[in-house]
Amino acid sequence: MTDRSWALDAIRLIEADFQRSADTHLIPFALPGFPGIDLYFKDESSHPTGSLKHRLARSLFLYALCNGWLKPDKPVIEASSGSTAISEAYFARLLGLPFIAVMPASTSQVKIEQIAFYGGQSHLVDDPTQIHQASLELAERTGGHFMDQFLYAERATDWRANNNIAESIFQQMRLERHPEPDWLVSSPGTGGTVATLGRYVRYRQHRSRVLCADAEQSVFFEAYRSGDRSLTLAHGSRIEGIGRPRVEPSFMPGVIDSMVKVPDALSLAAMHYLSERLGRRVGASSGTNLIGALAAAGKMREEGRHGSIVTLLCDSGERYVSTYYNNDWLTAQGFDLTAPLAAVRQTVEQGAPLPASVLAHCG
Ligand SMILES: Cc1ncc(COP(=O)(O)O)c(C=O)c1O
Repeated sequence: MTDRSWALDAIRLIEADFQRSADTHLIPFALPGFPGIDLYFKDESSHPTGSLKHRLARSLFLYALCNGWLKPDKPVIEASSGSTAISEAYFARLLGLPFIAVMPASTSQVKIEQIAFYGGQSHLVDDPTQIHQASLELAERTGGHFMDQFLYAERATDWRANNNIAESIFQQMRLERHPEPDWLVSSPGTGGTVATLGRYVRYRQHRSRVLCADAEQSVFFEAYRSGDRSLTLAHGSRIEGIGRPRVEPSFMPGVIDSMVKVPDALSLAAMHYLSERLGRRVGASSGTNLIGALAAAGKMREEGRHGSIVTLLCDSGERYVSTYYNNDWLTAQGFDLTAPLAAVRQTVEQGAPLPASVLAHCG
């Protein structure tokens, strides 16, 4: 088989997999403290590989195949905090390609096991700021292809439509009482999801605005405020999947209407609150998204607007049973979630303002 016919068959395999798949659910989430404001979570944890990265992995593989970058038997390599790697391991196995994930050594064991479940290998790096460099070196050494989600996430996804996450949200909202969301809320890892949402609403001339909720240990918020893309941090984020020590190329500040920086303790408290309300565990970035959505609800209340907000459940909490859902781990990390949990409950249920630590970092 020539490389070209192998690539055509590989594209068919991915498209056939897509054809067999269903869309993810849009779940209403009542906000008793904000009458007239309807919140929805798009449940991206219901993809076959358990996170919103299933969409990105499919797009990255198709992009690489259409660019002629993937070859039979040559490994695919990715720098990831885990979720993207799990989804890419799934697609690599579908195509019969070896897969190596380059991840921070702090990545949860469950994610490492899931990558292995799909036949991928994990290459762990002690310093989380070095995963990009380590991936480049590994690709050079093995003759493989470095997918580089942080570079290509914003362009591998078809932002105009083609069943991207934004188009799916607008389709699913059609029969709601406020079908055009006032705010779409998402937290940035690569920045790819935010880029898709922001471009789509402009292209389709919707009046929906995009709020981006950053993690505490991350440079995106400061870069958005100052315009300085050279900012760096010496350490990684504690909220797996989001928050980065450098301003990633896929982060597009121009499509963002508002940004908020969420303290990690509040993200984790919101994650626990969400899990209690939904009756199942969700990941920490979903908690960050809830705080972002509450910030958006606060803005709507100030403006005297009724309407809707849509945000995401990015992944399931089953990946974090030994960390975010383990009291000993939380204590060892210095987290006491009692006060933040009470604050989240009061905001959602009684409409209390969010803690000053969030409002001070909202722009
Ligand atoms: C759990 C989780 N939530 C949110 C995100 C952010 O998505 P994006 O990379 O599109 O910015 C990621 C990305 O890695 C993730 O793994």
